Amino acid sequence: MHNPQAIDHFEIDDQSIALLVRTFYGRARQDELIGPIFNRTVRDWEHHIGKITDFWSSVMLRTSRYDGRPMRPHLMMSLEGEHFDRWLLIFADTARELYSTEVANAFISMSRRIADSFEMAIGTQRGEVRMPRHSKP
Ligand code: HEM
Repeated sequence: MHNPQAIDHFEIDDQSIALLVRTFYGRARQDELIGPIFNRTVRDWEHHIGKITDFWSSVMLRTSRYDGRPMRPHLMMSLEGEHFDRWLLIFADTARELYSTEVANAFISMSRRIADSFEMAIGTQRGEVRMPRHSKP
């Protein structure tokens, strides 16, 4: 059956992931809290957007296109909880705009799990024991 509510929504493929990532960074770069972190760290935006598109393609479609180590740069940037909260909010808003609720939720729950793994590793680095704040353990 044709579902009129789904008419504007994208399937998960590399093209829609590229749009998600590009739209996300367009917003994140302008954000007053996390924008400066990106703008002082990322030198080549096309390279960065390509890499993060590969990352989400690997996570959601299992394409293995990304073979990096995502944790490392996040351990070196003094990131706090408020940074992760803002990142996740912008990402969730963007995913919900592009995808159906069900697909957006798949991206959002994955982003929360990864953010929690980063936050917990940052805690470990600082000698703290942290619980996941955004996902169920
Ligand atoms: C506090 C929120 C975050 C900030 C401010 C942030 C910032 C950054 C910056 C500036 C880089 C580029 C590092 C460099 O090129 O030297 C980067 C890389 C990356 N980020 Fe984040 N990030 C955040 C959260 C996340 C989350 C939640 C995810 C995944 C869901 C993620 C995934 C990645 C990946 C895959 C890379 C590429 C790592 C590589 O070089 O292979 N980030 N991030």
